[in-house]
Amino acid sequence: MALNSLPTAMFHGLRGPSHPAAQLGVIVTAALIFYAGYVKLSRPRLPLPPGPRTSIFSSPPQSSPYPWITYLEWKKTYGDLVYFKTMGYPMLVVNSYDAMTDLFDKRGDIYSSRPVRTMIRELHLIRSASAGVVLTLAYGYEVADNQDEYVHLADEALKSMGRAGLLGTYYVDYFPWLKHLPEWFPFTQFKRDAKIWRIPVRQVLHRPFDATKQRLKEGKASSCLVADELEQVYAGLSSADEQTIRNTAATTFAAGSDTVVSALSSFFLAMANFPDSQRRAQEEVDRVLQGRLPTHADRADLPLTSICYELLRWNPVTPLVLPRYATVEHEYRGYAIPQGTTMYANVWAALHDERYPNPFEFKVDRFLDQPKNAQAGINPLPDIVFGFGRRVCAGKELAFDFLWIAVASLLVSYDISKAVDENGYIIDAPIEYTPHLLSHPKEFRCSIRPRSPGAAAIIEQTAYF
Ligand code: HEM
Repeated sequence: MALNSLPTAMFHGLRGPSHPAAQLGVIVTAALIFYAGYVKLSRPRLPLPPGPRTSIFSSPPQSSPYPWITYLEWKKTYGDLVYFKTMGYPMLVVNSYDAMTDLFDKRGDIYSSRPVRTMIRELHLIRSASAGVVLTLAYGYEVADNQDEYVHLADEALKSMGRAGLLGTYYVDYFPWLKHLPEWFPFTQFKRDAKIWRIPVRQVLHRPFDATKQRLKEGKASSCLVADELEQVYAGLSSADEQTIRNTAATTFAAGSDTVVSALSSFFLAMANFPDSQRRAQEEVDRVLQGRLPTHADRADLPLTSICYELLRWNPVTPLVLPRYATVEHEYRGYAIPQGTTMYANVWAALHDERYPNPFEFKVDRFLDQPKNAQAGINPLPDIVFGFGRRVCAGKELAFDFLWIAVASLLVSYDISKAVDENGYIIDAPIEYTPHLLSHPKEFRCSIRPRSPGAAAIIEQTAYF
């Protein structure tokens, strides 16, 4: 029997009620039984983790514009695992260090996928001083000056990324079919935004790649990710295609440039707000360097690693890491995590919990005496800012090295303090961050003065600062 003849055959065999109202009653009852059966079948056998309840067309109300703070509030009511639905879309927030490592490190086999996010997929990724380092690494390109065209392009592209980055900013994240609606239709703001943002994003994806490819053809390309990979392909030694190489380079550029900029902006904000910390760090730097600029060889003698870790812990660059996706249903702590759940690791919460005394204070020496910390069971290194398991940040060593050399150079060369207005009043530098996937300090003013005429001369000779 052909499948499409099945319903007819069934209705011939069964004699149902003939009155239309009675027929409707049967259909409604059948639908309810079917729905009850479907719900029962699709519901996991174990209970779902606790969390705020929502209707199918809503999201739980957030007590703060910062999702990671709302999630920490929820932890007080629901615990480490908070499960909820946004527009019917299953989400799980993981609020403790132990649960994060259990799930994302130890069970990387099922939690290493990223959810498909319709808005962000339209955009791809990409950016400034540190953009220069990543541009060289990916494209062998040297940033010309502070008007550099690629850095400007990347800036534009990343502005869109920052906003679209949190899953749920746009209705289309929940209802991918919305992308088929015309632009004038309600709930399609994403279409109008994407149309404007797509331009710099596409250019960032293609222009530096095309320029490196051209230099390679002319025999002028220096060693970098794109040139090395393309050479392998041309020599028949690699089966990668151009699109994969182009996307990998753009992902490296995107993932690398703005993240380090955010951490460095936190440095200026912290120095302006905690002058004692700056003074103590400068005393150490002066003792070792005697006014010269640092090199990586000075790392063992300078206790600045602690400052860099504290910057990353105090206000992590990606407070919720990047979302993951449960590829199969999994049992954890007696709860079911359904297949298809989008998962957020609230590292912000884990880096401000009881393991870190006075967690909101910026303490330059928090990570200095690691054996003593370990003995007291406090201040573990905040490596989780770089993520977990097999999706851990591919650039973490480079990022830390860059942060270290930048912090050391800035401490030798500058005094950073709160700015003063034309009437001599101090302007506050509020410790406020943007509520985005990639979180930056909100715009603030500070004074950056060379520490001495010697420092000013060194600065003039350097390219970065
Ligand atoms: C302070 C600086 C940085 C921070 C805090 C940071 C943080 C992160 C985080 C949290 C992830 C996601 C990990 C996960 O899902 O578990 C990630 C992924 C990644 N990072 Fe970084 N990162 C930084 C700098 C860099 C740099 C400089 C590069 C490259 C030169 C880079 C390249 C990447 C790449 C390629 C990925 C993988 C993207 C993916 O899997 O979709 N990152 N980073």
